[in-house]
Amino acid sequence: MIRMIIHGCNGVMGQKVAEMAAKDPMVEIVAGIDYNVNARQNPFHVFAKLTECDVEADVVVDFSSAVAVDGLLDACVEKKLPLVLCTTGLSDEQINHVQEAAKVIPILRSGNMSLGINLLMKVVEEVASVLLSADFDPEIVEKHHRRKLDAPSGTALMLAEAVNRAVDGSYDICLDRHERRMSRPKEEIGIQAVRGGTIVGEHEVIFAGPDELIEIRHVAYSRAIFANGALQAAKAIAGRAAGLYDMQSVL
Ligand SMILES: NC(=O)c1ccc[n+]([C@@H]2O[C@H](COP(=O)([O-])OP(=O)(O)OC[C@H]3O[C@@H](n4cnc5c(N)ncnc54)[C@H](O)[C@@H]3O)[C@@H](O)[C@H]2O)c1
Repeated sequence: MIRMIIHGCNGVMGQKVAEMAAKDPMVEIVAGIDYNVNARQNPFHVFAKLTECDVEADVVVDFSSAVAVDGLLDACVEKKLPLVLCTTGLSDEQINHVQEAAKVIPILRSGNMSLGINLLMKVVEEVASVLLSADFDPEIVEKHHRRKLDAPSGTALMLAEAVNRAVDGSYDICLDRHERRMSRPKEEIGIQAVRGGTIVGEHEVIFAGPDELIEIRHVAYSRAIFANGALQAAKAIAGRAAGLYDMQSVL
């Protein structure tokens, strides 16, 4: 049995994790953390901050907000708590902070916890390794609900990194072309972000070549795929040695 704390427990994803954990005999939610303490009714106690939480646990699963992440990392280090870090939109400084914290505690960080996307990462890298040398241009289009704070999505950036690994990181990521008057440079990965309605998450990796086009697409129909991945990740890192892990270590 894994004793879990959900950080961001009153958010959309935090609630989904709580709902799925309640059906999992291997997981017990021992506490929640959310600065909107009373926003939902939960079958566990909710604290405003992890530093205020005095409940013993084996792992923290986080779906909150980038502004919460520095405090969360410090608290997990202080309490020696393994962390599954799912919040996206972290700055470069915060990614350095994650790396420092991972010298002390195990941290599994992924911008996308779903099995499908993590498998797609491998496929995209393999496809890119053939097509980029055959004059194909890589472009990524991602679509999300109107509430999403960060753009582009963490998943789109992970997919761009997978494409870039095929060319030893030599391509630039381009998020905006509106001020430019020039044809597309070859060594570029374009990312476009669409926001609207209740779209759970769609990612399309396009390889546009001379006279042919390949599109690789993933559609998330429900947040259950992320919550399920987070639960698997929590089981995988509770009790592991300090270090930085990703979903490949769960697959
Ligand atoms: N990695 C993945 O697979 C994946 C999947 C979906 C969402 N996400 C990311 O997870 C995060 C949360 O998404 P969501 O849709 O549940 O958002 P949400 O806004 O519905 O929920 C966030 C929750 O965090 C709480 N919170 C914010 N700042 C806090 C702080 N400083 N201390 C304590 N609690 C705080 C809020 O009160 C809210 O209840 C986002 O960054 C999103 O991009 C990641």
